[in-house]
Amino acid sequence: MDRPPDPCTIVIFGASGDLAHRKLIPALHSLACERLLHPETRVLGVARSAIAPQAFSATLYEGVEAYARLKPWMCALWPRFASRLDYLSGDYADEETYRRLGERLEAAAQGGASDNVLYYLAVPPVLYPTIVENLGRAGLNRRPRGWARIIIEKPFGHNLASARELSAQVHRVFDENQVYRIDHYLGKETVQNILVFRFGNAIFEPLWNRQYVDHVQITMAETVGVEHRAGYYDQAGVVRDMFQNHLLQLLTLTAMEPPAAATAKNLRDEKAKVLQAVRPIALEDCVWGQYEGYRQEMGVRPDSMTPTYIALKLYVDNWRWQGVPFYVRSGKRLTAKTTEILLQFKSVPHRLFPESLDLAPNRLRLFIQPNEGIHLSFETKVPGAGMRAEPVNMVFEYGQHYGERAIPDAYERLLLDAIQGDASLFARDDEIELSWRLADPIAAPRTLETYLPFSDGPRAAHDLLEREGRRWMPLPDVPQEASGG
Ligand code: BG6
Repeated sequence: MDRPPDPCTIVIFGASGDLAHRKLIPALHSLACERLLHPETRVLGVARSAIAPQAFSATLYEGVEAYARLKPWMCALWPRFASRLDYLSGDYADEETYRRLGERLEAAAQGGASDNVLYYLAVPPVLYPTIVENLGRAGLNRRPRGWARIIIEKPFGHNLASARELSAQVHRVFDENQVYRIDHYLGKETVQNILVFRFGNAIFEPLWNRQYVDHVQITMAETVGVEHRAGYYDQAGVVRDMFQNHLLQLLTLTAMEPPAAATAKNLRDEKAKVLQAVRPIALEDCVWGQYEGYRQEMGVRPDSMTPTYIALKLYVDNWRWQGVPFYVRSGKRLTAKTTEILLQFKSVPHRLFPESLDLAPNRLRLFIQPNEGIHLSFETKVPGAGMRAEPVNMVFEYGQHYGERAIPDAYERLLLDAIQGDASLFARDDEIELSWRLADPIAAPRTLETYLPFSDGPRAAHDLLEREGRRWMPLPDVPQEASGG
């Protein structure tokens, strides 16, 4: 860590919800276990349910036991951690809630606690404006003797217009440098490693361009369906849920130019430039899908046209990437959970060997999750008489090299960065606007294919590549009979 974190109070709105229970508190606990938080860090949960602070702490304990990377028995820190947890129940729309919140913060500061506050909006997005406005009205957007920052969960808006409106509402209360728009993909180790891999090694970057790269594939496949989130998901669909944020973030890190320095401004400037260079996506280059049975899921409209899958081709119109197709796809209820970036290199310029010698192109695969790692394939001669070749892999596996528990959860990294005031791994307002510009025209499907649950998606998604003589990398374990379409 570059510098020790400031002491602060983390105020979580939506503290009785799933995100706090499964992600935020477990992440804070793991950070505390590793002594990465200031010992005076406090957590104040705000939510509507009228529960006693002890009951609140008991439910959080269950979450930490179940989901934290570092469990209570691993560091014996829970009693101390719990003693710094507090709970405030109140209606988010009621000024009284904010008056009491102010009192709690003031009382803590009087008692010697730090005045720094990090707000976390872990509530449904419709509540963002209400909470932000009330924080402003109560004067809680500034701290007299410290800093105030706010983390806002995705989705940031539902389209370009609503994202702009939300930005304006937020900026009436908080300055841009107080705002941290979270995209948890940026907190993943393997995603940050894209930068180190590209700009910390001399041998890959010279190949990372249209001269050597035939095409790029970005895949985000999930086995889960809509689960209990139909209320949100059926309005959002895959384009708003995954493409506008996670997929485009992976695209920007893969395609960006090396920044002059690793500062938040430089990094985000370069990412924004990529988004500016993406050509508007042609509708005929998109395949939207919906898994069979989606409309029967609880809470989904019976005639829903919401896509749960998208595959598309896009181009980045700049010197580096001119003419190189980026194929991206994401879907729910697919055969495997995997997020992967693949660079397929061009074939050798001159064939030295007979036609019968089959030469596969070199492939570099960045496995973001699970089985985090990097594989580079190249051809070797099969030992023995005659001349046969086959691709082999040079493999780096995180788990094997660093140990199974070495990879922190994305929320650990992002919470720590926000506490330290480092916004590099958070989306800036212009990035959000640019990504909505790309997502809006493709959010509603022109035609909707169906695909079998636990397949590798609609047939038309394969045609998208095959008509150009290319193929998707197979998802792990695709049973042949389950292939969709
Ligand atoms: C969330 C989406 O942002 O990311 C979910 O809303 C999705 O629909 C999830 O399942 C995927 O995240 P991860 O880290 O499990 O790949």
